[in-house]
Amino acid sequence: MARMARTPVHPRSSSIVAAFTYLLLVLFRDAITTAAASPKAPASTNGCIAAERDALLSFKAGITRDPKKRLSSWLGENCCQWSGVRCSNRTGHVIILNLSNTYLYYDDPHYYKCAHVDFPLYGYISSSLVSLRQLKRLDLSGNVLGESMPEFLGSFQSLTHLNLARMGFYGRVPHQLGNLSNLQFLDITSEIYDHPPMHTADISWLARLPSLKYLDMSYVNLSSVVDWVRPVNMLSRLEVLRLTGCWIMSSSSTGLTNLTSLETLDLSENTLFGTVIPNWVWSMKTVKMLNLASCQLSGSFPDGLGNLTLLEGLNLGGDSYHGSNSFEGTLPSTLNNTCNLRVLYLNENLIGVEIKDLMDKLPSCTWNKLEELDLSYNDITGNLDWLGSQTSLTSLYLSWNKFSGHLPLLIREMANLTTLILHNNNISGVISNQHLSGLESLERIIMSYNPLKVVLDESWSPPFGLFDVYFASCQLGPEFPVWIKSLNNCYSIDVSSSGIKDELPNWFWNLVSDVANVNISHNQIRGKLPDSFQGMSTEKLILASNQLTGRLPSLQENLYYLDISRNLLSGPLPFHFGGANLGKLILFSNHINGSIPQSLCKMHNLGALDLADNFLVGELPHCLPTELKPSTGGSFIHSTSLNIHILLLSKNQLSGEFPMLLQSCQSITILDLAWNKYSGKLPEWIGEKLPSIVILLSGLISSLVISQVVLPNLIICGIWI
Ligand SMILES: *[C@@H]1O[C@H](CO)[C@@H](O)[C@H](O)[C@H]1NC(C)=O
Ligand SMILES: *[C@@H]1O[C@H](CO)[C@@H](O)[C@H](O)[C@H]1NC(C)=O
Ligand SMILES: *[C@@H]1O[C@H](CO)[C@@H](O)[C@H](O)[C@H]1NC(C)=O
Ligand SMILES: *[C@@H]1O[C@H](CO)[C@@H](O)[C@H](O)[C@H]1NC(C)=O
Ligand SMILES: *[C@@H]1O[C@H](CO)[C@@H](O)[C@H](O)[C@H]1NC(C)=O
Ligand SMILES: *[C@@H]1O[C@H](CO)[C@@H](O)[C@H](O)[C@H]1NC(C)=O
Ligand SMILES: *[C@@H]1O[C@H](CO)[C@@H](O)[C@H](O)[C@H]1NC(C)=O
Ligand SMILES: *[C@@H]1O[C@H](CO)[C@@H](O)[C@H](O)[C@H]1NC(C)=O
Ligand SMILES: *[C@@H]1O[C@H](CO)[C@@H](O)[C@H](O)[C@H]1NC(C)=O
Ligand SMILES: *[C@@H]1O[C@H](CO)[C@@H](O)[C@H](O)[C@H]1NC(C)=O
Ligand SMILES: *[C@@H]1O[C@H](CO)[C@@H](O)[C@H](O)[C@H]1NC(C)=O
Repeated sequence: MARMARTPVHPRSSSIVAAFTYLLLVLFRDAITTAAASPKAPASTNGCIAAERDALLSFKAGITRDPKKRLSSWLGENCCQWSGVRCSNRTGHVIILNLSNTYLYYDDPHYYKCAHVDFPLYGYISSSLVSLRQLKRLDLSGNVLGESMPEFLGSFQSLTHLNLARMGFYGRVPHQLGNLSNLQFLDITSEIYDHPPMHTADISWLARLPSLKYLDMSYVNLSSVVDWVRPVNMLSRLEVLRLTGCWIMSSSSTGLTNLTSLETLDLSENTLFGTVIPNWVWSMKTVKMLNLASCQLSGSFPDGLGNLTLLEGLNLGGDSYHGSNSFEGTLPSTLNNTCNLRVLYLNENLIGVEIKDLMDKLPSCTWNKLEELDLSYNDITGNLDWLGSQTSLTSLYLSWNKFSGHLPLLIREMANLTTLILHNNNISGVISNQHLSGLESLERIIMSYNPLKVVLDESWSPPFGLFDVYFASCQLGPEFPVWIKSLNNCYSIDVSSSGIKDELPNWFWNLVSDVANVNISHNQIRGKLPDSFQGMSTEKLILASNQLTGRLPSLQENLYYLDISRNLLSGPLPFHFGGANLGKLILFSNHINGSIPQSLCKMHNLGALDLADNFLVGELPHCLPTELKPSTGGSFIHSTSLNIHILLLSKNQLSGEFPMLLQSCQSITILDLAWNKYSGKLPEWIGEKLPSIVILLSGLISSLVISQVVLPNLIICGIWI
């Protein structure tokens, strides 16, 4: 079963969601491959109807960008053979147009690389499409096709399935959708990105869609809808209702009592019930999936849960981003007939009991059925010995609790386990080959911040699918762990602060070149940086606090975060910095000498640069206008020419007057130039050009009275340090 819909957090902000997304991507890819292999409608029927082909070609003309060439097959006479198009083999009319793209704003290029997903189409939806009068299914989800949802969509009288989810639309939801009286499936999930989501104050048109079985309006702003229950309650055939994050603040006391076929009820991320779930929810006996995560509910877990005896999935969790619930104590004793429970998320509540008290409430009839369990952030105590009886688990999230004791050897029986997340507990003892050898399905193992000793030798061959391995602050050393060599997938490794006192093995740079995130910081690792980072696809490379030597090579394009602070790097910075996408470069406390190269001017995405405590000399480069980032209009906007927010250069031997370069760094909030050899005074232009400064440590005397009049955001100012 798919994981219950959770919160689409900003991808980088939750690795759990990210990893799950990754899994979906893989599944989705398989689905595409299978679909592509299946035979198309017979071409023998004389191709497609000319007027419909013209309509599709007009649609294609509206696509301004197609990065993955998804419409490359849209050539020639027979439009029934074009990808995403299906015709009726009886009438020849186009009946399906499906160009769905599952992952829109997923801004992590590594996922695209690993999962081979499609990129969105960009452009607009041509109104010529309405000529496809027989169209039954239209799915354009995940593509970026215009700013608002077109009203002409209301003309597709035959539509049964309409999916326009995650298309970046904003503005009002067109009430013309109410004309689609045959609709069974409607997904218009909006998305919060860099503009407000779609909204509507009136959803009475829903009542004109009596055949609807699936309705997802997640993230559409419904805060102005006076009574959302009444129109939704007319949809008596509804099986799936998802209204995640719709800013719904209230619900009528009558409830959705008319929805006698409802199996999935997802009202998460709304504060619609006050703190207590109303009784009508417990009378919805058909519900199998109940998601009330992040609804700011509190008190005890309700007894009414026991009335939903068909429940397969329950999410009463939360997260710090979308808000949480704060249920206290253990589960109710009424669950003894809830025998189909497979997914249970109670993360970020106030459970605070012994794990035994919680597991005892799960009826024995669910044992060997439970697949996903998330109890993270709950202050739960006790040990993990109960894991042995839960061999059906595929995902286990127990981080940020107070689990203690050893990882039981029985864990090796959990052959279906893909995700094991136990970080920030008090689990001690040893993890050895014996624990992990049976975990053939393992994809993510996150054990960081436990007093654990990890003794895995070369005879442990990590499962093929393993793509996240975190043992930060566990004890791995003193030898550099050899099993890392056999990791053959592509995401993250963290063995930071793990007592490694060893030479970096030769194979290391080869290995990490295919890993997106690497953290080996806070060890005593010796070795020399390679002559080049070229060909490496690493995005985040954290080597801080080790004993690495050598010169910093030119940086490759994928890198967005590099931290080699507190090492023994020497020699000058690279003449050609490279690193066009680098956002953070942290190199403080090394022995780097020479001056800061001119190529800094071309690092247009650099937000934080920390070169403090090195042997740098000379002046900062003077950037030429041609080196600075042109604005989209083609003219140069001085204020945005370098993106640096944090610039830390203290404890070097930089000299000259207060750097003119800073005139091009108007976003600076923290500037530290102290302990250098600067001369002169703070310039008068500082107030005009660096208005955002919050912390200024300059080492320079000022002829101005530096105050919040000159720099309105200033909080800390150290002139003489
Ligand atoms: C095509 O026709 C066959 C029977 O001739 C039918 O089974 C099949 O479902 C039809 N396909 C479509 C896409 O209508
Ligand atoms: C469109 O295709 C995708 C991927 O094959 C599939 O998951 C989705 O259900 C299809 N959409 C419709 C409306 O049939
Ligand atoms: C669609 O619905 C609107 C009301 O929401 C109505 O005014 C319009 O005539 C309808 N259009 C068609 C083509 O049925
Ligand atoms: C939702 O709509 C309300 C009322 O129109 C508005 O005040 C609020 O700012 C909107 N919320 C978002 C996130 O756009
Ligand atoms: C229940 O749904 C039917 C349509 O299926 C509708 O006629 C009726 O008014 C609804 N009842 C309530 C209480 O909403
Ligand atoms: C839930 O079940 C209990 C006992 O089984 C019953 O007394 C109660 O009325 C039920 N509640 C609802 C809302 O159906
Ligand atoms: C479930 O527990 C309730 C009381 O907690 C009890 O009345 C009922 O008989 C139990 N049902 C089963 C099937 O054990
Ligand atoms: C593991 O998964 C397979 C396939 O889904 C299933 O048949 C098997 O019962 C599962 N094993 C356990 C112990 O639940
Ligand atoms: C961690 O577990 C050990 C026993 O394994 C115990 O002595 C210690 O008090 C625990 N620490 C905390 C902070 O709970
Ligand atoms: C790298 O590991 C260190 C030590 O465990 C940790 O403090 C730091 O946050 C990690 N850095 C990143 C970017 O993950
Ligand atoms: C920089 O340091 C290297 C060795 O650490 C030394 O060979 C070189 O002469 C130094 N360059 C300058 C300009 O001081």
